Amino acid sequence: MPIAPNSAEARDIAYHIHGQTDLKAHEEKGPKIISKGDGVHVYDDDGKEFIEGLAGLWSVSLGFGEQRLVDAATKQLQELPYYHTFGHKTAPPVIDLSERLVGIAPDGLTKAVFQNSGSEAIDTAIKLVWCYHNAIDKPEKKKIIARVNAYHGTGIASASLTGLDRMHKAFDLPVTDRVLRTDCPHYYRFGEDGETEEDFATRCADNLEKLILDEGPDTVAAFFAEPVMGAGGVLVPAVTYFEKVQAILKKYDVLMVSDEVICGFGRTGNMWGAQTFGIKPDLLTCAKALSSSYLPISAVLVSEKIYEGIRDQSGDLGGFSHGYTYSGHPVPAAVAVETLKIYEERDIVGQVRNVAPALQDGLRAFADHPLVGEVRGVGLIAGVEVVADKATKEAFEPRAKVGPKIQALAEENGLLIRAMGDSIGFCPPLIIDKETIGEMMTRFAKTLDQTLAWAEAEKII
Ligand SMILES: Cc1ncc(COP(=O)(O)O)c(C=O)c1O
Repeated sequence: MPIAPNSAEARDIAYHIHGQTDLKAHEEKGPKIISKGDGVHVYDDDGKEFIEGLAGLWSVSLGFGEQRLVDAATKQLQELPYYHTFGHKTAPPVIDLSERLVGIAPDGLTKAVFQNSGSEAIDTAIKLVWCYHNAIDKPEKKKIIARVNAYHGTGIASASLTGLDRMHKAFDLPVTDRVLRTDCPHYYRFGEDGETEEDFATRCADNLEKLILDEGPDTVAAFFAEPVMGAGGVLVPAVTYFEKVQAILKKYDVLMVSDEVICGFGRTGNMWGAQTFGIKPDLLTCAKALSSSYLPISAVLVSEKIYEGIRDQSGDLGGFSHGYTYSGHPVPAAVAVETLKIYEERDIVGQVRNVAPALQDGLRAFADHPLVGEVRGVGLIAGVEVVADKATKEAFEPRAKVGPKIQALAEENGLLIRAMGDSIGFCPPLIIDKETIGEMMTRFAKTLDQTLAWAEAEKII
């Protein structure tokens, strides 16, 4: 039986997905110590080599040995190790980075605001949404819609948008009643019997419209969405989903925020996930691959409409009183500038398009494996969901911990990937070559077969 979006079972799956940080187990086992990196490989403290199949945390786009990024940081540290962006000040790399980012941004995004993490970028985007509606004299328009299985970070506001119960339960979140929840657009899990993928997308959009109407369009400010949902299990939206959802958002004057903390900078085969899925964002958040994660930095790209609204009223509202000590820090900004230069020089989007079929087709070759329910993905991000019953899509009992078993066996086989419940995420550095992707597939094939043998021995299937 397919599981209905927003149902208790859907929430249970969401819970299961993040049910992996068991502090007691962690105490007993201790951490795995990764002490060296080079290209797409990392090495533990015993010298064992791993292919980093998740690029760290979906983030180390240029791999672990890019000397140019080290040099850019060193040079900036020598010239000006710190400055801030308060009171009309800034530093040269921050100006350079803003110009470069706006130069490659989706149409209409003309300003950049900097923070240090994806969660902070989401917090900033939420504040911009609220500030904008105050500025244009629509103070009631404040509610934000996010989706089941969304991941937007772990700050109090960003975790409130995150749609994974485990990330709420222990922390009394969401903290605000301004957050509304809508469907997860994952057809395989939430499509109904006999429903086409397009009809499912229509149903998601219809439900969104109903939610907006029930709440009152004058109270709904923005819709936050990852183009491909990452930590929720690498969930690729149903075909036509964003087209239909955006028609509804436009009708009720609801802002579209594209959370590209994972999808930005070529990951999906275009510079932005927004381009891959025809999203026209009013705000865009990015981080991770912005600096290849060598140093922490994130950005919110802002449309001229929002900027002008806020600018025109900023005096009356007491100025735009937002920022962090390390916003626009010159050292990560210099690393980010160098990262963007490398993307341009090496045509990173072309590189992704060139090698992506090796990953996508390579993983789809496992579709017939007895454990595999669905293989999904785009560009250099993919998910493999294992199930107890291929025909009915029945999930494994969460207690069986099949996903974590796959992750552990893959690790033994020299492949670092991430289990989100029973969905296994693949997101290698963007610089990976076809040969190494082939080696990832070999290690994953072995892992799946070992998992099957284990599951049969344990009578899990
Ligand atoms: C889509 C998305 N948004 C926000 C975040 C939060 O980023 P950070 O961990 O840098 O706070 C993440 C992190 O993985 C993410 O995937």
